[in-house]
Amino acid sequence: MTDPTPEPAPQAPPSAVSLPLSPARQPTPQPQAFTQPQYTENFYEAVGGHPTFVQLVDVFYAGVADDPLMRPMYPEEDLGPAKERLLLFLEQYWGGPKTYGEQRGHPRLRMRHMPFIVTPAARDAWLRHMRAAVDSLNLSPLHEGTLWDYLERAAHSMVNSA
Ligand code: HEM
Repeated sequence: MTDPTPEPAPQAPPSAVSLPLSPARQPTPQPQAFTQPQYTENFYEAVGGHPTFVQLVDVFYAGVADDPLMRPMYPEEDLGPAKERLLLFLEQYWGGPKTYGEQRGHPRLRMRHMPFIVTPAARDAWLRHMRAAVDSLNLSPLHEGTLWDYLERAAHSMVNSA
């Protein structure tokens, strides 16, 4: 007579996945889409939303328009579209509408600046006009410091030529 007891289901081999990996064997994180730093989430609203960012880029581009080093760098006769792109980027970065990404895709800012010769002198001019623009907002010291720290670091990272 044959044994009616069914064969026990084969045991799954011990899973290697459950074993802790040494730090060196942790899977490499995949490149993220544009990740929003958490501290930016409420910043946009906290500093006054759209009108604040409009003023920031208005004052900045008023400085650029009169700058003999910077003005020739902008390919278009009309600075309006460039101003709009910077506005939308900064609004998105600081937690506002995501229009920049919808229209332009991933920012890839360093790559987008490659066609332009960004020297340390151009960076300093950019930061000078941005400093005037940030000062015009009269933000709280904490917001002002947070915004300025970011702009300064971003400007330094955009330099692509000695
Ligand atoms: C360091 C000095 C910098 C110089 C000389 C510079 C110059 C320029 C120029 C000539 C353009 C092309 C204008 C156009 O959009 O048609 C541009 C585009 C742009 N810049 Fe800068 N830039 C600098 C730094 C920065 C920084 C620090 C940021 C961000 C925090 C920034 C954000 C942008 C954005 C969002 C655009 C438009 C990109 C797009 O095509 O979507 N730039 N910049």
